[in-house]
Amino acid sequence: MAEIDAYNEALRSGHYQKNDGLLGKYDNVRRFWEDEELGLYLRPYLEQLVARKEERGERLRVLDLGCGSGDGFEFVTSISNSKSLISERVIKPGMLEFYKGVDINEGLLRQAQDIYGNEQNAVFVLSDFNDYGFSKEQPYDLYLANYGTLSHNTDEQTVELLSNIARHSKDGALVIVDWLGRFSYEWQTLWTRDFEHNQWIDYAISYIYPGGGTKQHQLTYFQLRLMGRSEVLQVYRQARRRAGRSIALRKLADRSSFVGRHMDTAQYHPLCQPLRRLVNSLFEPNLCTNLDEVLILYIPRDGFTEVNTYHQRFADCWNYLITYTKALLEGSKVPEALAEMPLSLRRSLSAMKDIVKAAAKMKIGNARASLVEPQLGYCLRELEMKLQQGWGCGHGLVAIFEVVK
Ligand SMILES: C[S@@+](CC[C@H](N)C(=O)[O-])C[C@H]1O[C@@H](n2cnc3c(N)ncnc32)[C@H](O)[C@@H]1O
Repeated sequence: MAEIDAYNEALRSGHYQKNDGLLGKYDNVRRFWEDEELGLYLRPYLEQLVARKEERGERLRVLDLGCGSGDGFEFVTSISNSKSLISERVIKPGMLEFYKGVDINEGLLRQAQDIYGNEQNAVFVLSDFNDYGFSKEQPYDLYLANYGTLSHNTDEQTVELLSNIARHSKDGALVIVDWLGRFSYEWQTLWTRDFEHNQWIDYAISYIYPGGGTKQHQLTYFQLRLMGRSEVLQVYRQARRRAGRSIALRKLADRSSFVGRHMDTAQYHPLCQPLRRLVNSLFEPNLCTNLDEVLILYIPRDGFTEVNTYHQRFADCWNYLITYTKALLEGSKVPEALAEMPLSLRRSLSAMKDIVKAAAKMKIGNARASLVEPQLGYCLRELEMKLQQGWGCGHGLVAIFEVVK
């Protein structure tokens, strides 16, 4: 299968590893933007689930579908509790009974085993999740299929998968999945109104290579499903019907607007700016970023008024926050206020004002790079979380479902 070859190629390149920081699969955006944002979307539901399990003296079982290198293990066990700054995890040590990762790629499973194989309660298994024997196992409490995993499926396969999960799980079980967003700026050239005849993107894992990879390497392409809101709702309604109404959609949210993997490659849209690389730099300690380069120049596409309005609004707020922060750092005049500034932007401005003031008094090596810029990264992420509409305007379109019985 093309996708198995493509992931094996990525593994052989040496760039499909953890902790790369500025480039590669596990870069700063993945760690500090995407993983954390997913965790923040999931947290309110997960906290309720964990509280119910604790009341019953039970522990949590997690099934990671398309686990790849097993990073779902770290993702679920790292989500912070909402109540305090004491850095407690929602899933405290000892609360996780069992984590099982399944994937069709042996190379990725070996990598998962190398990284997480020592975790007592984690196992990795070679299996096709569309053929998974749910009925042969005890039900799980939390199902993951993150980072575009469901885009490998046809809609019919996903309907069957979701309804199988619903049928074989208990009341309150959670499912968090995502698809590639249909209206991400990364592939604006592929935007369409004809969803029926334009479902797939020819995808390459080119983003892990310095300079985009397509010129230097003969990469394997495979097909991934692009999804917008109405398409997810259609899949959901079918799954719900098939599962006797035992699954409910709790959240639909965009993740990684303007910072998706293919912003830097500009492979699907030549006007993309390398914003992922720049936001990676914001999060990197001891590295100052040229803030002028982080400003977004959004070019709308005719015929997509609603989607353009969302992207333009987000870009305006993003740019205002960057310009304001730059003015604070330079001690110059702050820019004119935007008309009807959203609350999330006003809060971010206030946070940046406080942090710049505090940073000036701190005796640390490079307070701008290690304190102010990471905070700016978090504020940009917060803008996305508050402004997004769940239309498929980010690299990922995230859905959270709950089993209701
Ligand atoms: C984009 S990666 C996501 C990996 C991982 N979930 C993460 O958090 O990074 C998609 C993964 O799904 C796996 N996959 C695709 N179709 C599958 C199937 N039918 N059964 C099991 N795994 C599958 C691929 O091998 C790949 O590892």
